Amino acid sequence: MDYDVKDISLAQSGKLRIEWAEQRMPVLRLIRQRFAKQKPLKGVTLAACLHVTTETANLAITLKAGGAKVYLCASNPLSTQDDVAASLVKHHRIPVFAVKGENNKTYYQHIFACLDARPQITMDDGADLVSTVHKTRRDQIPDIMAGTEETTTGVVRLKAMAAHGVLAFPVIAVNDANTKHFFDNRYGTGQSTFDGIVRGTNILFAGRAVVVCGYGWCGRGFAMRAAGSGARVIVVEVDPLRALEAAMDGYQVMPIAEAAKIGDVFCTLTGDCHVIREEHFKVMKDGAIVCNSGHFDIEIDKAALNKLTRSKREMRPMVVQHVLKSGRRITLLAEGRLVNLALAEGHPPSVMDMSFANQALSAEFVRKSHKKLEKKVYPVPRDIDERIAALKLKAMGIRIDKLTPEQKEYLASWQVGT
Ligand SMILES: NC(=O)c1ccc[n+]([C@@H]2O[C@H](COP(=O)([O-])OP(=O)(O)OC[C@H]3O[C@@H](n4cnc5c(N)ncnc54)[C@H](O)[C@@H]3O)[C@@H](O)[C@H]2O)c1
Repeated sequence: MDYDVKDISLAQSGKLRIEWAEQRMPVLRLIRQRFAKQKPLKGVTLAACLHVTTETANLAITLKAGGAKVYLCASNPLSTQDDVAASLVKHHRIPVFAVKGENNKTYYQHIFACLDARPQITMDDGADLVSTVHKTRRDQIPDIMAGTEETTTGVVRLKAMAAHGVLAFPVIAVNDANTKHFFDNRYGTGQSTFDGIVRGTNILFAGRAVVVCGYGWCGRGFAMRAAGSGARVIVVEVDPLRALEAAMDGYQVMPIAEAAKIGDVFCTLTGDCHVIREEHFKVMKDGAIVCNSGHFDIEIDKAALNKLTRSKREMRPMVVQHVLKSGRRITLLAEGRLVNLALAEGHPPSVMDMSFANQALSAEFVRKSHKKLEKKVYPVPRDIDERIAALKLKAMGIRIDKLTPEQKEYLASWQVGT
């Protein structure tokens, strides 16, 4: 079996951590048990370009239990957990091509290695697999039934491809399922971004001015966790509705040009480019810490920071302090890449349980229904989303009410008023 991982001898630690995650993924576990019996993906080759974490390992094992031949590569050069990659290869015979810290060239070689398997389903987190197929492997397009996409940025890219008429096969926007972005983006990114900053730096949040750029699903989650730890949260937005929501949630809202002068910690979660730029670095306080939790490392203008820099030192792993020509120090975390995955472990398994249940059931849906789909971006079928919510509640031991016949009738009527 061909694979490329950092060190296969790390497999035992990966095995235990994969099991630890599995114990917190009851919905995916139920799907795995059914997949093992019914084999809905029998004979399908599936390439997944996802963060190689313990949770992703459980998804890959589930897809394999369903009969798929699974190939896995990383969706970010810094997010791979090398012990997990080793265990997938050693204990589960799943070919993994991912090494934490791989350079850009190796990152794409790993994507190509997965594409060499000629997948019929692609599973992406950021659309790198789909865009690579479209740019360089067009001969493989006829093999592909459909793809699935995990994150906001990927869905934005794919919708742009569909709008330009270049998307060559259907893709299911897993990110847009309610049981994905309500929970994964908000509570998963919220907690793990906080975790990444704290693990990486060991700073105290209480009393700090924390600037949250972007008040979308991820930004809301991180703002909530930062505020909960005693920070003074400042939100930067471009959307009036979201800015208003942040203001009414109790945060200060202001443009980045003003926030730059007063922030102690900055985190971008926008999916946009160059949110923090040269003019902002120039006015930041001595000691400011800057990081990103949006998908790509484009939210912080690293070239501009380097241009202003006199010298830099890695003070702790992936914590690089830039001494500017002005003498002020600005610290950049994780090279401006996803701080929650580079400095911590990404989202906790109990939230990925729902995201990856959506992935597994979307793969099954694609297998069954791809002939009926056009070259468009589709939402996850509503019944899948609702089933996952119901299963998650059940697994959490939470029961809810049912409408009485009288309530059903009332809610469907219009005659009864004041
Ligand atoms: N770190 C992770 O593990 C993780 C998890 C899920 C999503 N993501 C990524 O995080 C990013 C945000 O995802 P989301 O689901 O919150 O998206 P979203 O669309 O809900 O929110 C993004 C917000 O950023 C705002 N924004 C855009 N440009 C801005 C700018 N220049 N300045 C200030 N605000 C700006 C938008 O108005 C919007 O409110 C995406 O790149 C997504 O792929 C990361």
